[in-house]
Amino acid sequence: MNNITLEVADQIATITINRPKSLNALNSETLAELNECCAEVEKRKDVRVVILTGSGAKAFVAGADISEMVNATPAEGRAMSLLAMEAFNRLENMPQVTIAAVNGYALGGGCEISMCCDIRVAAENAIFGQPECGLGILPGFGGTQRLARLVGKGRAKELIFTCDKINAEEAYRIGLANKVVPADQLMDECKKIAAKILKNGSYAISIAKSVINAGLDMDLLNGLRMEADAFGFTFSTHDKKEGMTAFLEKRPSELTDF
Ligand code: CAA
Repeated sequence: MNNITLEVADQIATITINRPKSLNALNSETLAELNECCAEVEKRKDVRVVILTGSGAKAFVAGADISEMVNATPAEGRAMSLLAMEAFNRLENMPQVTIAAVNGYALGGGCEISMCCDIRVAAENAIFGQPECGLGILPGFGGTQRLARLVGKGRAKELIFTCDKINAEEAYRIGLANKVVPADQLMDECKKIAAKILKNGSYAISIAKSVINAGLDMDLLNGLRMEADAFGFTFSTHDKKEGMTAFLEKRPSELTDF
């Protein structure tokens, strides 16, 4: 792969978008590579948490690649959006927990890719925004849908219509970032969160993730029914027996992946 690197250590995969000269802008090649990388990682049993970040100190991802889009036709624009959606949907629905380590600009497609992760940790220098309407286009990698679901319709509309860039503290205030940390502590903080997650039942976490994701697209009653089914299903696992028995025996539990 030319524009994506993957490192795996201690059950954590770090995926880095690596085009620092263009502030990690997402061109078609990078989107296809990201899809391929996520397809590989989602199958790996030795990975339980994924950290997604951008290379360099300045940007997480500065958006879709404007130099690729400038002369694109409507059909090419739509194809690029669909390519991104395939990769982003895969990232959003990976069985592992995903954490975006937002190490600088997260604009346009950069804000959109961060929203596909389960958790966003922002460095103090992170800047979020959806500047597409200033370029005469609209957010096309999921921003009109995911931003409204994450921060509410009013705030999403304000950000998209004004093209305001907001800093990490403001992103935290509106619920776009889960946490803000000094830039030099960003990866350590993501690893600390990962360490807490790794202590818990990975199968239970992955089912909880899919129930939360699917439930947000359902009415409450059907979402609750799905939760009851999934809850019942976890009663068939080793982890449920071990986790509860360990509690009653007042000893630490030894959870596996089922
Ligand atoms: N696409 C292509 N190249 C980009 C880019 C992008 N989104 N963002 C930055 N670059 C390139 C710049 O062209 C520049 O390249 P050169 O050195 O060859 O000139 C290099 O990265 C460094 O950028 P700047 O010199 O502009 O750096 P800066 O510090 O002055 O500004 C910035 C940083 C504010 C992030 C600015 O680069 C910027 O505004 N970038 C564009 C942000 C944007 O509009 N993103 C949305 C894109 S559209 C989109 O994402 C659609 C969608 O919904 C998917």
